[in-house]
Amino acid sequence: MCGIIGVVGSPTTLETLLEGLERLEYRGYDSAGVALVKAGQTWRARAASGTESVAALRQECAAAPGGFQSGIGHTRWATHGAPITTNAHPHLDCSGNVAIIHNGIIENHRDLHDELEAKGHHFTSSTDSEVLAHLIEEWRAQGLELLESVRQSLLVVRGAFALAVVDAQEPDVIVAARRISPLVVGTTPGATYLASDVPAILDRAQAFYAVNDDEIVRLAPEGFRAIDLEGAPVRLRQLAIDWDLETAEKGGYDDFMTKEINEQPDVLRATLLDRRRNDGTITFDEMGVSDDELRAVTRVVLVAAGTSHHAAQVAKYAIERWARLSVEVDIASEYRYRDPIVEVGTLVIGVSQSGETIDTIQATREAKRRGARVIAVANVVDSSLAREADAVIYTRAGLEVSVASTKAFVAQVAALELLALRLAQLRQTLEPAEIAALFTSLNAVGEKVATTLTRRDQYEAVAHALGGARDFFFLGRHVGFPTALEGALKLKEVTYLHAEGYPGGELKHGPLALIEPGVVVVAVATDPAMHDKILSNLAEVKARGASVVAVATDGDETIGAVADFVLRVPATEPMFTPMVDVVPLQIFAYAMARGLGRNVDRPRNLAKTVTVE
Ligand code: M6R
Repeated sequence: MCGIIGVVGSPTTLETLLEGLERLEYRGYDSAGVALVKAGQTWRARAASGTESVAALRQECAAAPGGFQSGIGHTRWATHGAPITTNAHPHLDCSGNVAIIHNGIIENHRDLHDELEAKGHHFTSSTDSEVLAHLIEEWRAQGLELLESVRQSLLVVRGAFALAVVDAQEPDVIVAARRISPLVVGTTPGATYLASDVPAILDRAQAFYAVNDDEIVRLAPEGFRAIDLEGAPVRLRQLAIDWDLETAEKGGYDDFMTKEINEQPDVLRATLLDRRRNDGTITFDEMGVSDDELRAVTRVVLVAAGTSHHAAQVAKYAIERWARLSVEVDIASEYRYRDPIVEVGTLVIGVSQSGETIDTIQATREAKRRGARVIAVANVVDSSLAREADAVIYTRAGLEVSVASTKAFVAQVAALELLALRLAQLRQTLEPAEIAALFTSLNAVGEKVATTLTRRDQYEAVAHALGGARDFFFLGRHVGFPTALEGALKLKEVTYLHAEGYPGGELKHGPLALIEPGVVVVAVATDPAMHDKILSNLAEVKARGASVVAVATDGDETIGAVADFVLRVPATEPMFTPMVDVVPLQIFAYAMARGLGRNVDRPRNLAKTVTVE
């Protein structure tokens, strides 16, 4: 979950690290730190100032001497040990020469800590990561060079890591390694970089390479070489990176969340581009599973977390309705540990914006281990999930920076519904004309989303009118249910207010007891087939004093009888409504959060990519 960066050979080592850390803050910002190395000297600075950690670090670094040959930097999202300066990375060995940064969890850190302490090592933090510095120190003391010391150390380490190590005795070298947690290497003539995420080094490096699990890389100014845990040389695969720095900037908006909400029409267009051939065939260029394999599918299991899980829930309705396949949707962190059944014909789809969410990666690994074919629906090209799956469908949403996912959701729903149409096509469960009509409706969704964006002021006005509310229930039926879940998640993430999503029919089975004056009920009421039922639910909560907000279709005059506030959206084919209906809910959450003075891009306690279990 932490962000890491390193550089060797740059004339601007410190500035490269600080700028990179500023771009990595979305991975965690409990604390930040750097270690800079020149012959015989390791200089370290750290700061733990919550969301201002990198800014505070920059101030600390004003006192840094010059002439450094290499350096590493870290932004932390705390797992072991409080978010205080002594737990901030980099961590040093006893000599003060070796400095390490680490993203992940060392599962056997307690045993290693006790063994190392018994040998006389002195620990200064309560992190799991510090054992790495002392382990490496042990091997350095035996005369091994840094690369070999790291390799030997990793042989006894259990857990997940992306790590980087510098040593004042080898100032022109950084050694980095990866198991599970993401790590890329970048090169440019005269300097070599590493980072947990490409944007951190995007404007510095010219070529980018993916480090795979259990690979160790030695970075030097002239380039890098990589080995596996046995010490055998390995070649890193070059990545195709088509982002420019502008994509990572706010594009003139106040924050990334607004920028990303506004990008949704373009994102939908990009996700749907070139997906249907002239003969009507739905196609995924990057798909590596054959048509015959897809025809042989007898059951679909979707695994995902958070917003991606809500998109997966929408897909269940579409695949079952159109392709007549039985679909299960599982929370990724539950799937892995419940002894799941994988039969011949089970297709597992892992859905993830980042492609690095550890729960989703581990769930798909478990599915593969049990014999399933795995498709990744991922946003980040060449991410771990994408690389490990049998096939990948990219959602083409572009870099999503705001912790609260918005544009990735609509892209995921579009990609998954396209896949549902492809399955229906192969299984001949829909007529070609029906598929053509649905594809045309899907293509029109981007325009409808654009229309909702022109109504931003209306949605914000509803949020302002409800500015004092503290309890929210979001209701929906059919695909309106995952939309309601997503609306509730957005609200709680960025406002820190209590919000829950429920299927409308479930209300009377318990939650109704919580409805009283002051509670706000937000209902997704755009599906004509479910309209009367939702109206009944709203009448029930209104009778008990709740304030009612409804997402309703243009021209729906009946909604006014039960709703105090209406968030109007254009009419859309019911299965595609989540992509349209979610927009007023995103804007509603955003406006509530701004009204409360929240940092919408970096909500407390959360990180953009969750790479620890
Ligand atoms: O990168 P992923 O899509 O796998 O991330 C999954 C969740 O961590 C993510 O959707 C999270 O719930 C977001 N903060 C929601 O806005």
